[in-house]
Amino acid sequence: MRIWHVLIVGGLLLSVAACAGGEESRARAAGGLGAVSGEPRHETRRPSPSPPPSPPPPRDIDCDQVKCVSLTFDDGPGEHTGRLLDTLKAAGVRATFFMLGEMVREHPDIARRMVLEGHEVANHTWSHQNLTGLSAAGVRSQIERTQKAVKDATGVEPTLMRPPYGATDEHVGRAVGMPQILWSVDTLDWRHRSLARNTKVGVNEPVNGDIVLYHDIHEPTVDSIPKVVEGLKERGFTLVTVTEMFQGEKLEPGVTYTGRADEAAQLAGDPPPSGSPAGPPEAITTESR
Ligand code: NI
Repeated sequence: MRIWHVLIVGGLLLSVAACAGGEESRARAAGGLGAVSGEPRHETRRPSPSPPPSPPPPRDIDCDQVKCVSLTFDDGPGEHTGRLLDTLKAAGVRATFFMLGEMVREHPDIARRMVLEGHEVANHTWSHQNLTGLSAAGVRSQIERTQKAVKDATGVEPTLMRPPYGATDEHVGRAVGMPQILWSVDTLDWRHRSLARNTKVGVNEPVNGDIVLYHDIHEPTVDSIPKVVEGLKERGFTLVTVTEMFQGEKLEPGVTYTGRADEAAQLAGDPPPSGSPAGPPEAITTESR
């Protein structure tokens, strides 16, 4: 509307300015003419901004009553994680992501999307160092930097952490000050990089209360998840986040958990859970990312 006034009152010169320069020149032309025309400003009606999206409410799932399994994905977010989120969304299931702070810094939008789609975001340290080799201050730095990166990206502060390689001890437990979540089914996806194997293990091995370890930075892993989810559903599982898995139980800071069935098994003094951090957990020497 304003351009019409410009054309009528100011003639050709101003109409060129108004057409050529967008908002700025339009404002200039209109401002200059305000005194001449004396007409009230035409207010542009802008649609009121829609409220920012918020995470879905927590679900009330009792894993004593239904068969539960937690799929967990480590070391991301990475270039394949968006596709994994598409899969999980299409299937209507939730998972838990143990993320590296340095990767969250690279992909903050993906981390945010996880939260908005109901997944749990958790701490896997800043740069995947073996925490048992660090000072208490070094451990805390790895944790706290990641807490901040996740909070900045998603608005949510993780309540759970997973030590890289599953490597932990009493010293690490004290320094992290958060429940340490390991796993009860190790798919070894990082080693085999096999869609068929990832699918077979992920569908067949879990029992009620298990936590399954995958890595969303590997393409064959992400490729396998549609079939894994389908197979687990066919076996009657509800796919839950780790926090949902432990609903009703208080997880203690520093204590190590491997699955609901195992109940708070402290690594110190306890044998490692079968199929998981036996030997070099999560393979200290060979895990690549
Ligand atoms: Ni890892």
